[in-house]
Amino acid sequence: MKVNNVNLEISAVAPKQYPGGNLPEIGLVGRSNVGKSSLTNKLINRNGYARTSNRPGKTQTLNFYKIEDSIYFVDIPGYGYARVSKKEREKWGMMIEEYLTTRKSLSGVVLLVDGRRAPSDDDVQMFEFLRYYNIPTLIVATKMDKTSKTKWNKELSILKKSFNVSEDDIRLFSAQTGYGTESVWQWIGDKTGV
Ligand code: GTP
Ligand code: MG
Repeated sequence: MKVNNVNLEISAVAPKQYPGGNLPEIGLVGRSNVGKSSLTNKLINRNGYARTSNRPGKTQTLNFYKIEDSIYFVDIPGYGYARVSKKEREKWGMMIEEYLTTRKSLSGVVLLVDGRRAPSDDDVQMFEFLRYYNIPTLIVATKMDKTSKTKWNKELSILKKSFNVSEDDIRLFSAQTGYGTESVWQWIGDKTGV
């Protein structure tokens, strides 16, 4: 999709703040610092619109981006960030879980993993969680620009095995080069009908 209009509608921490209406929604989840905000920026074709940082834990609220008045992307705070207190982590966990399990207009989730390594236990747990709730999920391996192309197939087979999925459920991606952007959009279009 060619994106011209984007608006950060709201940064929410509770359901009463979620936008009304019934536009389809795609959530972006993954470990802290994996590149969710960077993927968002690439998909909407705006560098720096969603705030990114090499300090993990940048995104702390559910950020609803309205795209072309037809779909929402929800940039979700990353899990597995050790440097915040246990209490804080529990609060984030509850906020994310509440969103994923109650949001009626959620059409699918993009689960980002670091393409340079095997998925973490957190990643696999998140995927199992989404599967349990029957939420269509695409696994996106990002930062692929940091891995030589000769290793891409190996990475793919590690992901297939770790998540127990077929290649159809996985995309390789780089926010740096834009590799995979179209293919991620296609999946989103397929799930949301936009
Ligand atoms: P939190 O908001 O903390 O959960 O992080 P996030 O998942 O939103 O990550 P963010 O997009 O802020 O990216 C984290 C760091 O990784 C930044 O320094 C990005 O520039 C970098 N990064 C993200 N995607 C890529 C990529 O595809 N390639 C490379 N080389 N760097 C990337
Ligand atoms: Mg972020």
